[in-house]
Amino acid sequence: MFRLILATIVASCWMAVSSAQLIAGVGSADITPPIGELNMMGYAALGQDSRGIHFRLKARAFIFASSLTSPRFVYVSTDTAAMSLVAKGMAITALHSMFGSDPAASYYSDENILLSATHGHSGTGGYNDDFLYQVTSFGVIPGSREAIANGVAAAIYAAHHDLVQNAGSPNTLAIGQGFCDNCSINRSPFAYNNNPAAERAKYGVDHDQYFPVVTVKNSARLRGVASWMPVHGTSMNETNELVSGDNKGAASYFFENDQRKAGNPSFVAAFGQSNAGDVSPNTSGGRCTDTGAPCDGTASSCGGKYQKCIARGPGYEEGGMRLSTKLIGTYQYHAAKAVAESSATPMTGSRVDFRHAYVNMSNVQVNVDGQMIKTCLPSMGSSFAAGTIDGTATSLSAQGANSSNPFLSFIRDLILTTPTPELTACQLPKPILLPTGMLNVPYPWQPQILPLQLGIIGSKLAIIGLPAEITTMAGRRLREAVLNVLVADGVLDKDATVAVAGLSNTYASYTSTFEEYEIQSYEAASTIYGPRTLDAYIQLFTQMAHSFTDPSAAVPKGTPPVNHSAKDLSLVTPVVLDAPPIGKKFGDVTAQPIAAAVVGDVVTAQFACAHPRNGDGNHNAGLNGGPSFMTVEQLQGNNWVTFLDDSVWDTTYAWYRDGVAASLCNVEWWVGETIPVPSGTYRFRLYGMAKASVPIVGDIFTPISGASNSFTVSPSKTGNCPNNRRRGASGAPTTPIKTFC
Ligand SMILES: *[C@@H]1O[C@H](CO)[C@@H](O)[C@H](O)[C@H]1NC(C)=O
Ligand SMILES: *[C@@H]1O[C@H](CO)[C@@H](O)[C@H](O)[C@H]1NC(C)=O
Ligand SMILES: *[C@@H]1O[C@H](CO)[C@@H](O)[C@H](O)[C@H]1NC(C)=O
Ligand SMILES: *[C@@H]1O[C@H](CO)[C@@H](O)[C@H](O)[C@H]1NC(C)=O
Ligand SMILES: *[C@@H]1O[C@H](CO)[C@@H](O)[C@H](O)[C@H]1NC(C)=O
Ligand SMILES: *[C@@H]1O[C@H](CO)[C@@H](O)[C@H](O)[C@H]1NC(C)=O
Repeated sequence: MFRLILATIVASCWMAVSSAQLIAGVGSADITPPIGELNMMGYAALGQDSRGIHFRLKARAFIFASSLTSPRFVYVSTDTAAMSLVAKGMAITALHSMFGSDPAASYYSDENILLSATHGHSGTGGYNDDFLYQVTSFGVIPGSREAIANGVAAAIYAAHHDLVQNAGSPNTLAIGQGFCDNCSINRSPFAYNNNPAAERAKYGVDHDQYFPVVTVKNSARLRGVASWMPVHGTSMNETNELVSGDNKGAASYFFENDQRKAGNPSFVAAFGQSNAGDVSPNTSGGRCTDTGAPCDGTASSCGGKYQKCIARGPGYEEGGMRLSTKLIGTYQYHAAKAVAESSATPMTGSRVDFRHAYVNMSNVQVNVDGQMIKTCLPSMGSSFAAGTIDGTATSLSAQGANSSNPFLSFIRDLILTTPTPELTACQLPKPILLPTGMLNVPYPWQPQILPLQLGIIGSKLAIIGLPAEITTMAGRRLREAVLNVLVADGVLDKDATVAVAGLSNTYASYTSTFEEYEIQSYEAASTIYGPRTLDAYIQLFTQMAHSFTDPSAAVPKGTPPVNHSAKDLSLVTPVVLDAPPIGKKFGDVTAQPIAAAVVGDVVTAQFACAHPRNGDGNHNAGLNGGPSFMTVEQLQGNNWVTFLDDSVWDTTYAWYRDGVAASLCNVEWWVGETIPVPSGTYRFRLYGMAKASVPIVGDIFTPISGASNSFTVSPSKTGNCPNNRRRGASGAPTTPIKTFC
């Protein structure tokens, strides 16, 4: 009884303290990687090389704190396929140098900054730290990590200033659940269905349709929205060669663009990744590539062949992958917006805290019902090579060993490495294809020391930074285990939310449940530390959770993995030189746009240009002084003023090689698709950087630019976009395309 009274008194004091409000800062910055014949990360598809930009990639940062002098937690969502510890280290160095002598720099460290990749598959790769993930990119791609690091630092720095600037006004943080039942499907239902029936019955569906949405407001102004809807960034397929944020980047773009149009340009919307390991955006399901018929229901195969079953997004028939990306992005946006406009639960409490540990995941003793079972050295199973309905990874499998990629010769030689009997037994029932934990040449193929991170934000939210792609059910188990501890310890309220931020800080492939592991689907084959991988994570994260109230439960901070980036291989061949096409000068227009366009047209032009890997040639040609390879300019009086750049959804920039050293660049404008276009006169501009090699002097880079003829834009006559045709110079409609009406 006495204890009860004491507890009540303590609880009410706590209530008084917790009425202190939480504050937040938001910021974003460009992280678009180098482009031009550089392998894109995600599909592991040799030959999927970047050649241009649909829309730019961003880092979006949210800083949470309870005052300007208290600890912070920094959540950053990056439009990348995965994350790299080396890039994270570089980002922190860059951030601290931005702060200079400002002591506020000390609020930001490796331990409280969480970088979570959205897992889009349409950005240049070559930034990963471990060898397996560098194979298809021919090693490290120069500039790729720098693009991530500098953008992440700039986003956090902007968020810091936003935090300081808004700390004095009433910040309102709230949390709610978004709902989307047409954003995703489970792509490995046969594996999911091996989870216990009673557990599946608790959820009804085989993928998460509810997802956490955090909103940050000052009075009525919406400053930021962060959300965690699990769905793969594979709405763009492995034939795409234009940089794109895929469905998550699209969701952010549409939300931010609508706010900008409503006069709220600094608004930031992060659509972060969560337990999407087995979740596809191809909601129309799997079709056989040969017959077009739906794949065999449970096995996701066509006549027993997984490779023949490829899923389709909701826009496949009408507008291909671009429309699928738009639809899945828009659905996520609308679901998050509904929460922002509703009466979400205020985020109470005032403790912002974090835990971070480097753990050797191959060496965890997992307590399974009293029996201690050790995790295993990393290994990839055979089904990894078979891929999923979202594409295959055959270029990494044995069949790819004879390809022209010199990196694959490592595989040809090392694939013969036989796993030890201990490793074989440890990984059972996985048939080991690559015993990566035994492969350390030229450096480790997969990580063993992993960063594990947990943040609490008041008494309504915790964020788990998990360095892997975790399946639906595995994510649910992890979330619930951590929530139970935090609620039991009184750290979080009963109605609190635990968000899993997937693909955080580094990349360690997948995590499936023990039962899914038995089925050895693609996700299980890529669950690298063996059948008890998930149980090891749950054990470690619940310990970290408990350590918020009981320091003796702490997971030792550990030491980061060896930084072997000084030994990084990079077999990416440099651009030799640029020459204009015969009879042309750099910047000449080789195909002029139509003279008179209407809203709903897709207007195109083509320029003699230079290799995009040399850079854009004018680092601040874009909107707000941003970088851009192309712009649309509007005639205002006698001046041409930048109207759009290559960061927006409505434009594309695509480079093509013409002969040996010449380049042609196609630019496109989907007039009025997301940005209203006043009637007027417009033209395209093109920017680039031409490379010449001069004996003795060395490489010389020269900025180039060009401008197209002007053209007029008038409103669509019917208001119904009848002209949804690509329009080149002749004005004749060419390819019919479903646009946006
Ligand atoms: C990729 O999507 C495009 C439609 O945008 C389609 O034509 C193509 O067949 C798809 N490729 C694969 C491999 O799915
Ligand atoms: C998908 O869901 C969103 C949000 O609930 C809804 O607005 C949209 O109409 C749905 N689309 C389809 C094709 O069902
Ligand atoms: C991690 O643990 C494994 C298994 O005990 C061990 O072989 C390996 O050397 C450890 N790795 C590191 C980097 O300490
Ligand atoms: C789904 O389908 C495409 C083919 O249309 C496939 O290449 C991709 O990997 C899967 N993901 C999506 C969404 O397209
Ligand atoms: C690779 O090439 C060698 C020699 O040309 C051949 O014997 C072998 O069968 C090939 N392997 C594969 C997987 O195609
Ligand atoms: C790793 O080493 C590279 C140099 O190769 C350095 O730039 C980077 O800052 C280091 N990263 C960390 C986290 O120490």
